[in-house]
Amino acid sequence: MSDQPRFFSHATIERNVGWLIAATIFVVAIAGLVQIVPLFFQHSTTEPSPNVTPYSALRLAGRDIYQREGCVGCHSQQIRTLRSEVERYGPYSLAGESVYDHPFLWGSKRTGPDLSRVGARYSDAWHQTHLNNPRSVVPESNMPAYPWLEKSMADKDSIQAHMTALRRVGVPYSDEQIANAPKELEDKTEADALIAYLQGLGTNRRYMMIDETTSK
Ligand code: HEC
Repeated sequence: MSDQPRFFSHATIERNVGWLIAATIFVVAIAGLVQIVPLFFQHSTTEPSPNVTPYSALRLAGRDIYQREGCVGCHSQQIRTLRSEVERYGPYSLAGESVYDHPFLWGSKRTGPDLSRVGARYSDAWHQTHLNNPRSVVPESNMPAYPWLEKSMADKDSIQAHMTALRRVGVPYSDEQIANAPKELEDKTEADALIAYLQGLGTNRRYMMIDETTSK
């Protein structure tokens, strides 16, 4: 037996920065994969939660406007499992609620409140007024106004291509839904579409909302 370090021993790794970096990356990579890969196959992260259905054409068009206008830069759509969040916003978010979101809009910044359960909390008229000028309903608001949304029409021309693309990545739209999509957007403004999108957010779990008394 000898105390001499063998060629590739623990001591070799500890005394050589290059090996240490390589070995650290190797170990962290395996640890990461062990955590992340099972999530790709877990039922609860890949199957829709109860009552979660693909967005209707109108809501999908509204979701596009939400992305275009950068709402995600100020509003998150993920309620964490902390008591303070659940009391303020409602039941915490589940992975299965985002399975039809491509891309997801969880966001990471809350200049404004989380919106994942805002659906049915206000009336359509409230949203319309708020989008036109947030200060008219919330005097201290620093949210920008979006008055052009009620003046431009929702985009009927690209909706079918959009739904077809989503179907390719696994959203179960039927041929009939895709065929009827432009008709659904007939005479709808961008504001109508965006409000329809907002009014659907989180309503799949509304029956579990803590504060059911907030009025329409
Ligand atoms: C610069 C940051 C900012 C941007 C961008 C922004 N908001 Fe807001 N939003 C806020 C703030 C702050 C509030 C809270 C005050 C208020 O109600 O106006 C708010 C409130 C809201 C509310 C009410 C939420 C509640 O629970 O009371 C809705 C709905 C909303 N925003 C939707 C939108 C939509 C849709 C867009 C994109 C078209 C958008 N916001 C863009 C900052 C922003």
